[in-house]
Amino acid sequence: MNHELVIVLDFGGQYNQLIARRVRECNVYCEVKPYTMPLEEIKALNPKGIIFTGGPNSVYDEESPHIAKEIFEMGIPILGICYGSQLMAYTLDGKVETAPVSEYGHTEVEVDTTDVIFDGVSEKTVCWMSHTDYISQVPDGFKITAHTPVCPVAAMACPEKNFYATQFHPEVMHTAEGMKMLSNFVYKVCGCAGDWQMASFVETTIEQLREKIGNGKVLCALSGGVDSSVAAVLLSKAIGKQLTCVFVDHGLLRKNEGDEVEAVFGPEGHYELNFIRVNAQKRYLDKLKGVEDPETKRKIIGEEFIRVFEEEAKKIGAVDFLVQGTIYPDVIESGLGKSAVIKSHHNVGGLPDVVDFKEIVEPLRMLFKDEVRKVGLELGIPEYLVFRQPFPGPGLGIRIIGEVTEEKIKIVQEADYIYREEIAKAGIDKGLGQYFAALTNMRSVGVMGDFRTYDYAIALRAVNTSDFMTADAAQLPWEVLAKVTNRIVNEVKGVNRVMYDCTGKPPATIEFE
Ligand code: XMP
Repeated sequence: MNHELVIVLDFGGQYNQLIARRVRECNVYCEVKPYTMPLEEIKALNPKGIIFTGGPNSVYDEESPHIAKEIFEMGIPILGICYGSQLMAYTLDGKVETAPVSEYGHTEVEVDTTDVIFDGVSEKTVCWMSHTDYISQVPDGFKITAHTPVCPVAAMACPEKNFYATQFHPEVMHTAEGMKMLSNFVYKVCGCAGDWQMASFVETTIEQLREKIGNGKVLCALSGGVDSSVAAVLLSKAIGKQLTCVFVDHGLLRKNEGDEVEAVFGPEGHYELNFIRVNAQKRYLDKLKGVEDPETKRKIIGEEFIRVFEEEAKKIGAVDFLVQGTIYPDVIESGLGKSAVIKSHHNVGGLPDVVDFKEIVEPLRMLFKDEVRKVGLELGIPEYLVFRQPFPGPGLGIRIIGEVTEEKIKIVQEADYIYREEIAKAGIDKGLGQYFAALTNMRSVGVMGDFRTYDYAIALRAVNTSDFMTADAAQLPWEVLAKVTNRIVNEVKGVNRVMYDCTGKPPATIEFE
């Protein structure tokens, strides 16, 4: 791709991906690279600018990530953020120390609006601070361009060399005018023109796919989720009937979802491709019979998916390419750290082992989720698919606590359908991160008419989240909850109680299993 490029060098900060996303929101292509990337390789990428991320370390610790001084001699504009700002000061012989008072949270910062980074920004602006060290002395040639009552160098600049640094985080939402600052950096300092547009991405990707695939045969596992749908449509536009999509309906989808996927991609649908729907509900139910443990359920559902797909792939025979809906957050290798596995995620990772193919194609490899959605819209994919709620691979299998049965699937499908319908009616669907109904494994006594009931409880969940790593329980309007409750207990057989989950993540997770 011949786009202008800005590189985010990752020093272990938690916002590395966010910085790249924000830069891309300015229509400038951006990639995250580890801070260990050799300078020659950085140079070869010919970036218009480099951004150093934050990080949890102190620059004066020997163990902490450092960077060769030569990076400042390449003539490329650099913006340092938080740890990155301290690293810039330290490497260029300024002074970094433990601050007498550390700052955390929303902080009013006074900025020099004649500095290019703060062009168009208010003189006093709220920024997000999170630091225990600070720059106590700027390097030669730098001037101070922002401060707070306790942080003498909240930002610094060396305009002659195009080096800029902020102690605060312009990339997070809490920095009110952060986007303006990042946009000033990429446009006014790096001189970018903003050539990262989804329309041109679609056009060039289709061309590249045609060139790469030629007359080859391509196989795609379609889940109906946003990523695999967008990948499939890109390929269908590029190579039409050379593409075969296999859609495994495990019977654990939301109400009507299997038919919706078929309506879009099947023979009556909008696209030129071969579509195979495998109705495998019975197989899954048999395998899941009597199984209660969440991890075992996840493993069974994941493995069964591979088996079903394998059988279909065998019928098709050898293919040249296998499509994977990998997106950029899966690709980015963080510079530092590894996190613990809380749940084993179901994805199509096992497919390459069982399908006879020559090469993998990953057309969305460099896109963030919001960009995948933009591409979807650009390709004319229906909005209800493009803005589909995230839905776990194991589907309702992990929204039914304990054993999965046909009856329970039906209950949770109906309850979830009502919940989603009422949320949409109330007009609050767009503002919510994720919401769904789950079926608890609890039965309790109720009374309906003059009769005693002993039925299941449905749990409603709605969370606000930007990254799905942490989430807050959404404060849904009481009228909506009351209406949903009333409808569920009246319309869904087998339910006599509805509860709302008020727990955030952590300590809970978004899904129940
Ligand atoms: P948790 O429950 O871990 O969920 O807080 C975080 C996000 O991930 C989704 N999720 C999955 N997505 N395969 C997926 O593709 C899975 O196995 C899976 N499990 C959870 C969940 O819906 C939420 O958006």
